[in-house]
Amino acid sequence: MSEFLTVAMPKGRIFEEAVELLRMAGYRLPPEFEDSRKLIIDVEEERMRFILAKPIDVLTYVEHGVADLGIAGKDVMLEEERDVYELLDLKISHCYLAVAGLPNTKMNDVAPKVATKYPNVAAAYFREQGEQVEIIKLNGSIELAPLIGLSDRIVDIVSTGRTLKENGLVEYERIVDITSRLVVNPVSYRMKDERISELVERLSTVIEEQIVHQP
Ligand code: PRP
Repeated sequence: MSEFLTVAMPKGRIFEEAVELLRMAGYRLPPEFEDSRKLIIDVEEERMRFILAKPIDVLTYVEHGVADLGIAGKDVMLEEERDVYELLDLKISHCYLAVAGLPNTKMNDVAPKVATKYPNVAAAYFREQGEQVEIIKLNGSIELAPLIGLSDRIVDIVSTGRTLKENGLVEYERIVDITSRLVVNPVSYRMKDERISELVERLSTVIEEQIVHQP
């Protein structure tokens, strides 16, 4: 009997694509996955347990070893350097981090302000650009900040670009492309290497096939 694998799944945007990918890789996940409010779903026939976490918390579960594996956005991984290994680029939930703000505006010469959910990424980016900025940490609705005068710029995720557009904001610089990644706890990787390698192999095959079939 093979060991149980525990996988931390991010609730929200990434969730459906991640579930679809696992199903395409042949994992028989029950319909309750999408419908239920359960936070722990055991799939006995696959010897797998899924925990449904906030995306920002997935790395915490994996780092502490309560989940062997997790699916996390590269954005969160760049922001929080955690003791986990990245196994695979799942090539889902494509988006990017960008600097945005009101159109035709310059950053304040004195103490320009940047609002973001990603203070570390933003600070590193502006440092590289040789610009001194004050970072203001927000937890969501980042686009509000320039609209109400809290900041000159924001650093945030752009996916379809709708949020920027509908709020009259423009993109100034693209920082880095983001996709979701499969991550593993280093100890689990050693202890459950056979099961984990099989999962990686099955997912890789599906990801490759999808790339080949992309228009
Ligand atoms: C994210 C991001 C942007 C938006 C971008 O926010 O922070 O606000 O999505 O998507 P778009 O380019 O397709 O409009 P999310 O909806 O995750 O919520 P948040 O504002 O609470 O961070």
